[in-house]
This record gives sequence, structure tokens and C-alpha cells, in this order.
Amino acid sequence: MFCTKFLLLLTYLIKITVQTSSPSSTSYVAAVLEYNFENDTAANLRNYLIYIQEASSKNADIIVFPELTLNRGQDSIEVPINGALKDHPIPALAADLYHKVLVDISNAARQNKIYVVINIEEIMDCNTAVGEYCPAQQTYLFNTNVVFDRDGTIIDRYRKINLFGEFTRTPALRPDLGVFTTDFGVTFAHYICFDLLFQVPAMQVVDKLNVTDVIFPTMWFSEMPYLSAVQIQEGYAFAMDVNFLAAGSNNVRVGSSGSGIFSGKAGALISTMPGLPTTKLLVATVPKIPGQVTSSPPGPIYDNPVDHDSLTLITDPSLESHFTRLLTPGLSQFTMISGEVICVFKVNMTENEPETEISSYKYRAAVFNGVRSYSGMATGGIRVCSVIACTGDSLDTCGKRFPQYKLKSTAVFHELNIIATMPTPVIEDEIQARDTIYFPLSLDTSIMPLEPDDYTYSEDINGNVTTYSMFLDRYDKELYSFAIWGRIFSRDGQEEDPKLPQETTLSPTEETTENQDVTTEHQDNTTENQDDTTEHQDNTTENQDDTTEHQDNTTEHQPDSSVTHLISKTILITTFMLLIK
Ligand SMILES: *[C@@H]1O[C@H](CO)[C@@H](O)[C@H](O)[C@H]1NC(C)=O
Ligand SMILES: *[C@@H]1O[C@H](CO)[C@@H](O)[C@H](O)[C@H]1NC(C)=O
Ligand SMILES: *[C@@H]1O[C@H](CO)[C@@H](O)[C@H](O)[C@H]1NC(C)=O
Ligand SMILES: *[C@@H]1O[C@H](CO)[C@@H](O)[C@H](O)[C@H]1NC(C)=O
Ligand SMILES: *[C@@H]1O[C@H](CO)[C@@H](O)[C@H](O)[C@H]1NC(C)=O
Ligand SMILES: *[C@@H]1O[C@H](CO)[C@@H](O)[C@H](O)[C@H]1NC(C)=O
Ligand SMILES: *[C@@H]1O[C@H](CO)[C@@H](O)[C@H](O)[C@H]1NC(C)=O
Repeated sequence: MFCTKFLLLLTYLIKITVQTSSPSSTSYVAAVLEYNFENDTAANLRNYLIYIQEASSKNADIIVFPELTLNRGQDSIEVPINGALKDHPIPALAADLYHKVLVDISNAARQNKIYVVINIEEIMDCNTAVGEYCPAQQTYLFNTNVVFDRDGTIIDRYRKINLFGEFTRTPALRPDLGVFTTDFGVTFAHYICFDLLFQVPAMQVVDKLNVTDVIFPTMWFSEMPYLSAVQIQEGYAFAMDVNFLAAGSNNVRVGSSGSGIFSGKAGALISTMPGLPTTKLLVATVPKIPGQVTSSPPGPIYDNPVDHDSLTLITDPSLESHFTRLLTPGLSQFTMISGEVICVFKVNMTENEPETEISSYKYRAAVFNGVRSYSGMATGGIRVCSVIACTGDSLDTCGKRFPQYKLKSTAVFHELNIIATMPTPVIEDEIQARDTIYFPLSLDTSIMPLEPDDYTYSEDINGNVTTYSMFLDRYDKELYSFAIWGRIFSRDGQEEDPKLPQETTLSPTEETTENQDVTTEHQDNTTENQDDTTEHQDNTTENQDDTTEHQDNTTEHQPDSSVTHLISKTILITTFMLLIK
């Protein structure tokens, strides 16, 4: 390690003044590290110091490290933000009071004049802790972000609220949000990994704190077809319209990878989703107003999809509770409904000509309005309208990837439109956070989302229901999924929906019919008190049926499914007009 130290010393000596962002700048420079960590705190710490220096040399104002890639297990760190740090806030200047990790990172932040966000396993001993909330006299372990400013001062500490298993650790004892303000005029919120999927903190930091910039250390376990790492990172930045700095732990064997810097509706300024063990520093200039990109950012870094043969991907267990319909080549146009979720699909697809005798993906249109499990760690309310790839004809093959990537095994979509009518999100006064969120999510064979220019997404609010439309604009994409995927937080913690009975294997057309019946039946059962409304709607939508007939007499038309209890006449018309577009 002599070599490393020597290099570090040398670079300090030749270091020239760095340019930093100021309150009047329209942008700042951010760095995030995709990090293939070592099982050794000292080695990780040495690497961190090198990347802090490298980020600074690229004029970064802030660097974000991933979740739990520094210390683990026996090496937990105290962060006495209400104790010693009150009097001695710069660990670099009070080395005897703090763990070496805090001292060295503080020193590197000072030397390089850069904000640093690290994530560590924190230990708190309530027998000695000063100024801390301690419900029990015991030792606690937390999953914690620690923020250093350019002087090496520790300015914030945030403890993860939504643990993903992590049985040795305790969730934050109180749901305190992570937030800090910088000398370049940007206020950042920060949270950790699984937190992204919950109202507190992921909605609350934006709705209550009104921040436009969010920091996200993560060790994500990517899941098909909706929740792979970069896919949901970009989806969050887009839907919440924030800048999002995501640093991912890289451990492809267990499915962890994926980092990026995203800017609202402009998508990824830079992003990476490695299929192979990778450490990579991503740096980008971030506009202070999300989405207002003026420079030309590096953009997504696409790996060869063959590399993703090595990336473990799990499958959303709720897919088997989705009502689905197998898509056949050619044009199909239909509506699927589950409770208050109405999905209108228009799909024109052809199967790609496989180069060799390879299997190709089948696709299903799906609707789900229920509760899912996250790998048994928690449950959450979900609303979705989607088209997803499957490796076979039955539902249990969906959300999976063939073990070996082959070119042209996906379908070609000449047209792919989804129009979803969903209840409009409402801010809950008590916690000042929206009760629902819908994300445009997509996934291609490089386990990356479509870029914003590849599709058109819009929302049309009509009182308590909103119509979200998502139209594919690029037809050369190899797609695993295309979805409007929502979280309905009021259903969190409820029991997950059961799997639907496996369909019998029939010819595609008959299977489709069978499927549709299930949807209708479910509909009848859950909406008995809505019967009156349904009657009314029947009449108003009759002429809509004609429109559909005209539009397309080549596909079988779903006679009753377009009639719904919730949907108003206006929305139906809007929906169909969008569809005709
Ligand atoms: C990490 O290191 C610890 C202690 O040296 C050892 O017990 C553990 O097996 C190691 N884990 C891995 C994944 O190498
Ligand atoms: C929230 O931020 C916006 C600009 O980003 C500002 O116009 C608005 O006044 C802020 N609202 C509150 C409550 O701080
Ligand atoms: C489906 O797309 C193909 C290829 O663009 C086109 O030739 C065909 O006319 C389309 N079918 C319909 C019914 O629009
Ligand atoms: C929307 O409002 C209408 C009329 O006020 C009501 O009948 C309906 O139940 C509401 N729907 C939802 C999802 O809140
Ligand atoms: C609908 O209700 C009927 C009668 O209550 C029941 O037999 C049937 O299994 C239910 N179907 C579904 C999909 O829940
Ligand atoms: C709707 O149709 C039903 C029977 O088809 C009829 O009884 C009812 O009067 C109609 N309502 C309207 C508003 O046209
Ligand atoms: C579509 O409908 C028209 C008029 O009803 C008919 O002449 C034509 O053959 C139909 N096309 C197909 C493909 O069924």
C-alpha cells in the first residue's frame, strides 16, 4: 500500500485550486461511486480516500458512497452527533475522540474541499451515549448516513427507517429525516436503499421538506420487471421531479449493482448498471433546477447485455397475482380493470426474427391493484398497468430473463401505448406526504430504463382520478417491461394478494379469453356496491364501443371490460382520444 500513499501525497502536492459551485451558480458537480467493495474496512477506507481525491480533481462539489461498503460486522462506528461532535465537530481535528474512519474521511473532505456522504454501520451504546433517545439501556446498531462538509465537519446523520431484513440492526428509533444545506445553495435530503419505496421518507422529503435534490446510498437487489436499480432510481427522479444522486454497492453475485445521477424529467445525466464486478466513479454537472440540463451530460453507460448473464435478478412475486393477457403478434387493443385501476392497451408487435433457433420472449399485458411482498421483508400496496416479457406461455415465466442473452429474442413493438386511469394522489396533512405515487418504468435488455426521449409520458388530472399515458416512441428497443407502476402507501403492511390459479395451457386465443374472464369475475366481486354506477356508465360508453370497433376490427374486442364504475365519461373520451392519436 506504499504505492497508494505515495500517490496520494503526490497529488496533494500538485493539487491546484478546485472550482467550486457557489449559491449563484446554476449548477453543481456531483460524483457517485459504484463500488465493488472488499471484506475489509481498512482496504475500503483506503479506496474511499482515493475516490474522494479523484472526485475533487474532477471539480465535484459532493461525492456519495454506497450503502454498507465501508465497515460491517465487528467494526461498527459511533457517531455522537449529540455528544462529542457538538464540541468537536471536525473529527480530523480531534482524532483521539473518534473512529479512524470518521477521522480519515473528515481529513479527506478537508483536504479536497468536498462534501462527502458515507454510509456505515453505526453503533450506539445507551449506557454511555450523550443526548440520544434511548428507549432501552442497550447497544443498538443502525444503518446510517454520515455527511461531512468541505471543512471535514460532520453536519448530518441519518438512520435508515425501512430496513430490508438486516436483523442485527434496528430501524431509526424516531423517523427523523436526513437533510443538510450546502455552501453552494442546494439543500439535500438523503435516505437509504429500501427507504425509496416508502412514504416516509421517500415522499415526505420532497413533499414536506420541499427539497429538489436527494442523495441515495444503496445496496439494491434488482428485481424484474419493475424494480431493477437504475430503472427505479430514474423513475423516482422523474416522478418526483428531483435531482437524484444514487451510489450503488456492486456485488453482482447477489444482484447488487446500479448507480447514477439523474435530473428530474431529463433522466440520467450519467448512469451505469454493470453485470460484472465493477468499481466506477460517475461525475456529472447537475442543474440546480431539475431537468434544466444545459451542458451535454455523459448519459447512460450501457454494458453489453451478455454481461448481465452474471447478474442475479429476482422476480416480483406479485406477478402471479396480476391479471394478465397474453399478447399475440399484430395489433391488439383492449381494456383491463381491477378495482379502481383501469388500463387501456394498444399494442402492435411482431416477433423478432431469431438469428438462430432460439426461444423468444412472450409478452403479457397486466393489471394489478393489490398488495405485494418484498422478498418477505415487508408488504406494500401496488397499482400497475404494464406489458412484461415472459420466457414462456404461462404467467409464472414472466419477469424472468433467459439465462443467456441472445440478440433478437425480444419482440419488436411498432406501437405500445398504455393509458392508466388511477385515483389521484392526495397529500396527507398529518405527515405532509402524498399517499400514492405512479412511476413510468421500463426495462431493456441491458437492464436499463428507456431514455426520456424514447417514450412520451403525460398525466391528466380529472379531480380524484388521473389518467397517465405512456407511449413508446422508439421501435428498436429490446424491451423486458413497459409500465405505469404505482405505490399506494395506505395498504402497506397488509397481507399480500394470493397467487391466481395457474391457467391451463391452451392456445393463445383461448388462454386470453380465459384470462379475461378471471378479470371480469374479480371485478364483479369487489365492486358490488358500485353496481348502480356501472349501469349508468353502460349507456354513456356505448358510442365509445363503436369508436373502438371502427378503429380496429382486426382484433377481438373486449365487450364489457371498457365499462367501469369509476371512470367518468370525460375520462373515457379523453382516454380514447389519446388512444386514437
Ligand atoms: C469477511 O471477513 C470475515 C472476517 O475476516 C470472515 O469471517 C468472513 O467470512 C468474510 N466474508 C467474506 C464474504 O469473505
Ligand atoms: C418550495 O420550493 C419552490 C421552488 O422549488 C418554491 O417556489 C416554494 O415556495 C417552496 N415552498 C415552500 C413551502 O417552501
Ligand atoms: C403494425 O405495425 C406494422 C409495422 O409497422 C405495420 O405494417 C402494420 O400496418 C401495423 N398494423 C396495424 C393494424 O396498425
Ligand atoms: C371520486 O369522486 C366521486 C364523486 O365525488 C366519487 O363517487 C368517487 O368514489 C371518487 N373516487 C375515488 C377514487 O375517490
Ligand atoms: C366471486 O364470488 C363468487 C361467489 O361469492 C365466488 O364463488 C368466486 O370464487 C369469486 N371469484 C373471485 C375471483 O374471487
Ligand atoms: C341506461 O340503460 C338502461 C337499460 O339499458 C335504461 O333503463 C336507462 O334508462 C338508461 N339510462 C340512461 C341515462 O340512458
Ligand atoms: C373490417 O371491417 C370491414 C367493414 O366491416 C370489412 O369490410 C373488413 O373485411 C374487415 N377487415 C377485417 C380484417 O376483418
